[in-house]
Amino acid sequence: MNVSPPGKGEIHVEGLISMLSENMQKALNGQLVAELYSAYLYLAMAAYFDAAGLPGFANWMRVQAQEELTHGMRFYNFVNERDGRVVLGPIEGPPTGWDSPAAAFEHVLAHERKVTGLIQELVKLAAEEMDRATSDFLQWFVKEQVEEEESAEGVLRKVKGAGAELAALEGELAARVFKPPAAPS
Ligand code: FEO
Repeated sequence: MNVSPPGKGEIHVEGLISMLSENMQKALNGQLVAELYSAYLYLAMAAYFDAAGLPGFANWMRVQAQEELTHGMRFYNFVNERDGRVVLGPIEGPPTGWDSPAAAFEHVLAHERKVTGLIQELVKLAAEEMDRATSDFLQWFVKEQVEEEESAEGVLRKVKGAGAELAALEGELAARVFKPPAAPS
């Protein structure tokens, strides 16, 4: 296999033809950026909670941000595995503050529902293109989004229930630990 030297343009690898349609590659790259934005959003929330003197809440958000990075890397790796081209677009700046801890968790839930919608759009595109490999790849995200929404709903319920007694939740949220995901099967 011949690889031309890197220049201003593309590195051309002879014999590599992407198994992704141009449309699908663009959509997967878009989702990679959306996952990185999610990490950015949750890190912004971590900073908000750190500044508010709620390090347990901040920990929960930091772990969430780490998970989002692994989601982004799944898309990165999949595009490469299909001999596609990863192209990184700009990441929007996240908000810097929320009216209350409950408002932040309302935002988490709304954001996760939005991401579920994005994943569903990808599933639809893969089905339309009869791209079986991408359909299979996306199934992990379909399941993950069910967990993501459930987890956000659970914490939101507790935060609302705690009212002004947020200190009681601090320990619970501080105990969340990032678990590196198992390799995709
Ligand atoms: Fe990557 Fe929270 O969805």
